[in-house]
Amino acid sequence: MCGIVGFTGQENALPILMRGLYSLEYRGYDSAGIAAFTEDGLKVIKTKGRISNLEEKLRGEGSFSSTCGIGHTRWATHGGPSDRNSHPHLGGRDGKVAVVHNGIIENYLFLRGQLEKHGYVFQSETDTETVAHLIDYLHTGRQEDLAQTVLKALSLLRGSYALGVVSMDDSSEIVAARRDNPLIIGLGEGENMIASDITAIISRTRRYIILDDNEVAVVRPDRVTVYNQLGDVVDKPVQEVNWDLSAAEKGGYAHFMLKEIMEQPRAFSDTVRPRIQDGEIVFEDNGLTDERLREAGHIHLIACGSAYHAGMVGKAVIEELGRVRCSVSVASEFRYSNPIIREKDLCIVISQSGETADSLAALRQAQRAGAFTLAVVNVVSSTIAREADGVLYTWAGPEIAVATTKAYSAQLAALYLIAAKVAKARGLLDRQTERELCGALLQLPDSIREMLEQIKTVQYLASKYANRSSVFYLGRGLDYAAAMEASLKLKEISYVHSEAYAAGELKHGTISLIEEGTLVVALATQRHLYEKTVSNIREVTARGAEVVLIAAEDFDGDVSACKNVIRLPACMERFAASLSIIPMQLFAYYVAVERSCDVDKPRNLAKSVTVE
Ligand code: F6R
Repeated sequence: MCGIVGFTGQENALPILMRGLYSLEYRGYDSAGIAAFTEDGLKVIKTKGRISNLEEKLRGEGSFSSTCGIGHTRWATHGGPSDRNSHPHLGGRDGKVAVVHNGIIENYLFLRGQLEKHGYVFQSETDTETVAHLIDYLHTGRQEDLAQTVLKALSLLRGSYALGVVSMDDSSEIVAARRDNPLIIGLGEGENMIASDITAIISRTRRYIILDDNEVAVVRPDRVTVYNQLGDVVDKPVQEVNWDLSAAEKGGYAHFMLKEIMEQPRAFSDTVRPRIQDGEIVFEDNGLTDERLREAGHIHLIACGSAYHAGMVGKAVIEELGRVRCSVSVASEFRYSNPIIREKDLCIVISQSGETADSLAALRQAQRAGAFTLAVVNVVSSTIAREADGVLYTWAGPEIAVATTKAYSAQLAALYLIAAKVAKARGLLDRQTERELCGALLQLPDSIREMLEQIKTVQYLASKYANRSSVFYLGRGLDYAAAMEASLKLKEISYVHSEAYAAGELKHGTISLIEEGTLVVALATQRHLYEKTVSNIREVTARGAEVVLIAAEDFDGDVSACKNVIRLPACMERFAASLSIIPMQLFAYYVAVERSCDVDKPRNLAKSVTVE
């Protein structure tokens, strides 16, 4: 949800800012811009559209260089995508201040009204321009440094932000601030950076500090100083990036999404392996004590989007193995639903980015209610990871494609482990069963690999069905959860309308949409439901649907009505969602490619959703 980058040092900042912006583009791609100090003053170049449009515009500006600047790639909230609404925004009548912003300023209309009374003229419809003018207003004519002014301005803002601010007063200084939106500071030799995430700094440095809420940083080539709300200097721990640049590159694949789909065996294995030793589930460093799991009256799983779909699978497996009441909620609903949370409850927040605004708010709500909170998160040291009482990292590595695949698989892996641990703590898992479960989990990466080998079949099916205007996914139980994720994958990247239905529910209304040639993808991986699902398949084929069936190895129902059948290798059926999702991810991917969609950056979307 918007990407911010800034550089101050000795080298030309422009290529560094551009490279940073390209690596942050997945966070939003409605418009892009930079502000950089040149011999002639503060130069702002910005444009609607992708970073490549900005690059072209920069080329048109002729050659100029700068050793300090800020850049932004936008996911539009206030004001549509346009040149005018692009960041950076200038503050003041003479444009002395430039601001880039990620987040939403909720009281911007009030502030805008006040500033207009003081003669400020607004060029855009954004909330961000208010911040730029406000800083100019508070700074003009006062003998204080920019950081002090920014601190003052922040105390007047309601809402959320990560901010990068530069001022003509000092052409080598960037002031950065954050509240509820991520911002890190990359520490180099004689140069420093600000960025929304690590991908933008890793080509220059592996060392960084994480800005916390309500902190302000003054970033100069030779030093970084961080202040808290009171203006006191804060000593910040230095972190080190633990993955390579290659992990955030395409590595020969046409798209990040395909690369990440293919990386799923490793993502699953890296999440599971360190937590299994000699046939035993062992992970104790995240506060999930046996006592806590034994006493938990209710487990709340809270997440958004695909992470919510992982939660649906998690709920089924935790309830089946651990026999404890478990609910799964969409974070944006949970937070406003006055949820019943008791002190002994366990709240598990699932998030790839660890920055999703609604999931973070739900986590804080659960903490206020006194429950123990566990984050299942992929991005190390992200806000949700840091704020939760315990964290179980999914080790999927950096996920760049906007549509999640490998992080989703790793979330399933983490939830399976939690389910087994709950069962063990509650005395429901004997040694033999635990050994079998561990064996099955360790075997799954190979089974995922086997599913990936069916890539050509799926590619063929995608080319056959790419022109359909609507696709239905049907399943029961765990298959319904997988169907939900499959349907989301297809619609978000290929823009084909699609719905997932609990197979028995279709006839209660939606079956009226089935007509001659409608594609239905049916899932049948749960033995006790085979016959039921076969009946549902018959109901749709009788109305002209073409069915692609994804079925367990031992599925013995009548498949004569199905156009194609994709089989899963043998696996514990409680883990089947990890296998059935693979062909459906590939199907979505190839349908999007067939339809010439921008697979890694689907329209209107952004990777990290830091606004509610
Ligand atoms: C879909 C997708 C989204 C995310 C959702 C939550 O492919 O990626 O639905 O799952 O926005 O994001 P995180 O997991 O970062 O909290």
